[in-house]
Amino acid sequence: MNGLNRFATSARKAWPFEILPRTPWARQTPTYRQASPSVIDAALARSQKRPGGNWFVVAASSDIASKPHGANVAGAELVCWRGVDGQLLIGPARCPHLGADLCTGSVDRGALICPWHGLRLTGRSRPDWPALPAYDDGVLAWVRLDRIGGAAPTPAPILPVRPEGPQIAAVTSLTGTCEPADIIANRMDPWHGAWFHPYSFTRLEVLSAPPDGEVVPDELDRFLVAVTFRIGRLGVPVIAEFTSPEPRTLVMRIVDGEGAGSVVETHATPAGFGPDGQPRSTVLEAVIAHSDRPGFARALRAAPAITPFMRRAAHRLWRDDLRYAERLHTVRRQDTDKTADLLKPLDAPTTADPRHPGAAPGCGPTG
Ligand code: FES
Ligand SMILES: [Fe+2]
Repeated sequence: MNGLNRFATSARKAWPFEILPRTPWARQTPTYRQASPSVIDAALARSQKRPGGNWFVVAASSDIASKPHGANVAGAELVCWRGVDGQLLIGPARCPHLGADLCTGSVDRGALICPWHGLRLTGRSRPDWPALPAYDDGVLAWVRLDRIGGAAPTPAPILPVRPEGPQIAAVTSLTGTCEPADIIANRMDPWHGAWFHPYSFTRLEVLSAPPDGEVVPDELDRFLVAVTFRIGRLGVPVIAEFTSPEPRTLVMRIVDGEGAGSVVETHATPAGFGPDGQPRSTVLEAVIAHSDRPGFARALRAAPAITPFMRRAAHRLWRDDLRYAERLHTVRRQDTDKTADLLKPLDAPTTADPRHPGAAPGCGPTG
């Protein structure tokens, strides 16, 4: 390496940003030819067949503190609180006496007190009130619901590998009109990134996608993407991989570039049905940022000031991505009820698009 190259390498290490050229949105290279519907569908189908152990993310760990916290999984009302040692406790939100909403109760020395007549729940099962298996992974709170999951239970959730060393985490949550699988499907289309989110991503290239097929070796079952994160006119190029370790989780991990090892975990939890009879699903996304830079550990002292910005950025992306996921749900419904056929010429076949033969794999209301 000559002196100039050495200087350029160390300058890049000190300053990870690049000045981005002004490229009009419409002049980007279209990605629809690469974004193969059958590759996306096959990746989703494989994800939906993986064991999930009936675990569902219900909240950020930090949301469950001194007060009871309410959650909804597939319409079932839950109450979460902290026991005397800070352990996560979860059970039905319906009081076993007359049905009061326990989320409106209080926590006293680790016991949950019903506001109507003072019944105390310690978090241990009673004949009329079952405590539910709960798991706190330090960033997210999970509950196991075997009747809703309908699969073989596991003692703990299938957790993605997280960065080691100093890290900062922020969790965002939004609810939309779709199935959990629509949320996972959105993340299995990395080709939409620079088109649909030009404010956050540019110069996106999918370096490799998993092959189409029912069975794919684990090491090939990932999307590898070169992308530049945009902060105004500045860009940070990285290589990221997208994998789905279980049916309701999609993980984006930075494998090369600034923040290597950082992950964005997208979790999709069914949230029952809305008044319109359509399913609701909640995205709970954890951004767990890590950096080997010496200044990063010092910056952690400013974490309370940084996490609102992380949450705001994730919220903006998911506001758009939920529109995408909701649209997938609408398109599937149009194919099922054949309204899409109404616009076809009279001499055209009126069978639904074979890509959408009814419900997507694993898209039952219980997620
Ligand atoms: S309804 Fe809870 S104690 Fe009566
Ligand atoms: Fe997106």
